[in-house]
Amino acid sequence: MILKPKIIEARIISETEGIYDKAESRSIAGLILEEVFNLDQNSIFLNRAFDGDDYREIRLNEIVERLKRNEPIQHILGFGWFMGRKFNVSRDALIPRQETEELVDLILSENPEKRLRILDIGTGSGCIAICLALVLTDAEVHASDISSSALEIAKQNAKLNDIDLHFHQGDIFLSFPDIEAPDIIICNPPYIGNSEKADIHRNVLDYEPDLALFVNDNDPLIFYRKVIGWAEVKLNKGGRIYFEINESKGEDVNKLFNRNLFNEIRVVKDINNKDRVIRATKV
Ligand SMILES: C[S@@+](CC[C@H](N)C(=O)[O-])C[C@H]1O[C@@H](n2cnc3c(N)ncnc32)[C@H](O)[C@@H]1O
Repeated sequence: MILKPKIIEARIISETEGIYDKAESRSIAGLILEEVFNLDQNSIFLNRAFDGDDYREIRLNEIVERLKRNEPIQHILGFGWFMGRKFNVSRDALIPRQETEELVDLILSENPEKRLRILDIGTGSGCIAICLALVLTDAEVHASDISSSALEIAKQNAKLNDIDLHFHQGDIFLSFPDIEAPDIIICNPPYIGNSEKADIHRNVLDYEPDLALFVNDNDPLIFYRKVIGWAEVKLNKGGRIYFEINESKGEDVNKLFNRNLFNEIRVVKDINNKDRVIRATKV
């Protein structure tokens, strides 16, 4: 059957109306056209006609049905994109987010020296640790998580990217990974308050791990306090700490840093002009 990219795009936009806005549906359609129909960006842009065999038609129908049940496209396809690379994803680890790419960009721009010991706490899919290791080729990169199943995904992703990481399973509230003093600590902890659940899209709530997303409303800064406490003791002098933060918590996290122990404390906004990252240097 002869098909055109715009026909498939229009179908996906109409069938997912009410779940995704048009721009999101369009980008999902782009992914499907690339992955299922093997079209490149140019053919999609030029709306070139192509032969859609029965097998691909069946696969498309299956994907549309799963999208309508709010399943994220990354789970349906088995991967997501992060910093231009493919990362395996599953229900066990958070799907890498665009905001987190900005965190990685900031770390790379501020730490050009390659021989560093880096620790990523709550590594999930491993996206942060792996992208840093790919650029900082002489760095010793450690990735820790409480979730063994998330670490399995991170290990797959490290292998896919041909990167050697040191993995540590453990609860950051109980112990710090058994490593020598790191030069950089990164943590993108769960930071959505339980009370914000009502505002969260079904494709996140029903498919992504609560452990990666939510924090108790009674103490939304609990991860930041704990990790800063560890950094006070474990981080190398002159070393840096980077957090991803809830857009409403920039000032609150800022206040957690003891000014005698940390300087260069800076809240950094994301592409949408929301407070998204905080970094500090240990004096
Ligand atoms: C927001 S996700 C970040 C995942 C990944 N770093 C990213 O940026 O896409 C938070 C991660 O912290 C992990 N986590 C939650 N509680 C933890 C704890 N007590 N100790 C260590 N890791 C924890 C979760 O399993 C999850 O992988």
